[in-house]
Amino acid sequence: MWKNVPLFPEQASTLASEVDALYLTFLGISIFFGLLVAGLVIFFAIRYRRRAEDEIGRPEKAGIWLEITWSVIPLAILLGMFAWGAKVYIGAFRPPSDAVEYFVTAKQWMWKFQHPQGNREINELHVPVGQAIRLTMTSEDVIHSFFVPAFRVKADVLPGRYTTLWFEATKIGTYHLFCAEYCGVEHSKMGGSITVMEPADYEMWLAGRDTGPSVVASGQKLFRVKACSTCHRPDSATLAPILHGLFGEEVELEDGSTQIVDENYLRESIMNPIAKLVRGYKPLMPTYQGQITEEEVLQLIGYIKSLASDATENQGPESDSSSPASTPDEG
Ligand code: CUA
Repeated sequence: MWKNVPLFPEQASTLASEVDALYLTFLGISIFFGLLVAGLVIFFAIRYRRRAEDEIGRPEKAGIWLEITWSVIPLAILLGMFAWGAKVYIGAFRPPSDAVEYFVTAKQWMWKFQHPQGNREINELHVPVGQAIRLTMTSEDVIHSFFVPAFRVKADVLPGRYTTLWFEATKIGTYHLFCAEYCGVEHSKMGGSITVMEPADYEMWLAGRDTGPSVVASGQKLFRVKACSTCHRPDSATLAPILHGLFGEEVELEDGSTQIVDENYLRESIMNPIAKLVRGYKPLMPTYQGQITEEEVLQLIGYIKSLASDATENQGPESDSSSPASTPDEG
């Protein structure tokens, strides 16, 4: 069985070769200095050994340039390692702007996926090759961790919060997905696969299934069903902030601080609306905690994000905090 376990997983994403190059270089540097130090310890132990019973040690004076050299060279190497590591790390956690967003909901003990087109999958995810994929992930219960060794990506999936991950697959194939955080008795079975397909095959795969409504359409429907639309109307800013064009903007809160409207803020505002109230609004909104599933929250957020593109046609976000009492018609 061990013969089948490769030393390194396949390289199947744009990140994989970068991570491996970084890892192997660090390993090489560590081996080089490890051997150097161990070798010198042995060499000095022999070279400067006590040769006679009554021999007394004589202090050696190291030159100042030797001291400077062995301080500056390791410093430069370590700073180089830091800069390179930081670059790879930042790249790994900043999805490119053209990344397509997929949603992931983890629960004991399965992975639930939703494609932007609406398709749902469990423990399996199909994606096109050569396309940056951004995953917005949350958990319904405990902490899980999304880990695809072939893509060299791993991120914790937390209840009550969104974490994101992105990858761009470079090779057609099926790759193992693991849960990498102990999450209960069936943790070891909480795995799945990511299937990377040619874009045309992916389109066919999508078309061959009952997609159901898209994430945005589901969110739009929920927005009506849950009566969000009663207060968050584009023609009235008196009761609640207008959501068009709000995503990604900054809002001013009751205490004068500011908050970027991101996925986590939207989720918090749905579950616990009074936590961070936008300045000028009363705490009128009821909580939706327990009345809406994590997947539904993701759909609502998907819908609210889609409203961002309509910002020019509707009330801009700027006036939300400045004059909530006036309607857009007056202003
Ligand atoms: Cu989920 Cu381990």
